[in-house]
Amino acid sequence: MITPEIKVVPTPTAIAEEAAERFVEAYRIGVDERGTFSVALSGGSTPKALHALLAAEPYRSRIDWTKVRVFFGDERCVPPDHADSNFRMARETLLSKVPIPLDNVYRMVGEIDPAEAGTRYDQELIDLFGHAGLGLDLCLLGLGDDGHTASLFPHTSSLQETTKLAVAHYVEKSTTGKSWRITLTAPFINRSRQAMFLVAGAGKTKALATVLEGERNPKQFPAQLVLPTEGKLTWLIDVAAAGMDAV
Ligand code: 6PG
Repeated sequence: MITPEIKVVPTPTAIAEEAAERFVEAYRIGVDERGTFSVALSGGSTPKALHALLAAEPYRSRIDWTKVRVFFGDERCVPPDHADSNFRMARETLLSKVPIPLDNVYRMVGEIDPAEAGTRYDQELIDLFGHAGLGLDLCLLGLGDDGHTASLFPHTSSLQETTKLAVAHYVEKSTTGKSWRITLTAPFINRSRQAMFLVAGAGKTKALATVLEGERNPKQFPAQLVLPTEGKLTWLIDVAAAGMDAV
């Protein structure tokens, strides 16, 4: 069993700063060792501050964006300009602000038939990473107050997946209500060289404590499924999420 690195920092801003440093470090290793860096972005609101840092100096120029391949941890099945679209959030906060070639951005196609979009993303990942072995350099993740991560929601079919790299499924209770989602599967997330959770705010304290210290119950707390087979697991959390007054 791997031991996660858990780093508690004072504020959401400090999470973004720590994550930006680690993003660049993972980028350097990827580019040095393989000439490329593949990262999955997460949705939700926590990553916005990280995106803003990466899109501005000094980070923007520390990265050769032509060597970066951007993937998504999950997507809501809406058009790419929809308010709920994770791609839209990533485009507005990061991708439109850095010189990344369009071909390097692998978005989940939220506007077509969800099952087709899931199959398409699965196939794209298979073509790039194969069925086994290490996958993404860095998989960024968030934690929902119900214990979900990516679009792996409690008691959904996506949690049973053992072979596919990405799937689409209908979620009764998601952060955007009843909705179709496309998500990376736990087996693919676990092929990452590093999985890194960013968790901020007092609303996450209970879920965080249960995921990290509670009994193993991944059907109820799907974030417990994230245990990279060969890679690192990192949790960057702020004092509010940790339920601490100060560090
Ligand atoms: C999504 C997400 C989801 C998110 C968590 C945390 O598309 O909804 O990818 O898994 O990361 O719900 O979201 P916050 O950062 O907004 O708390």
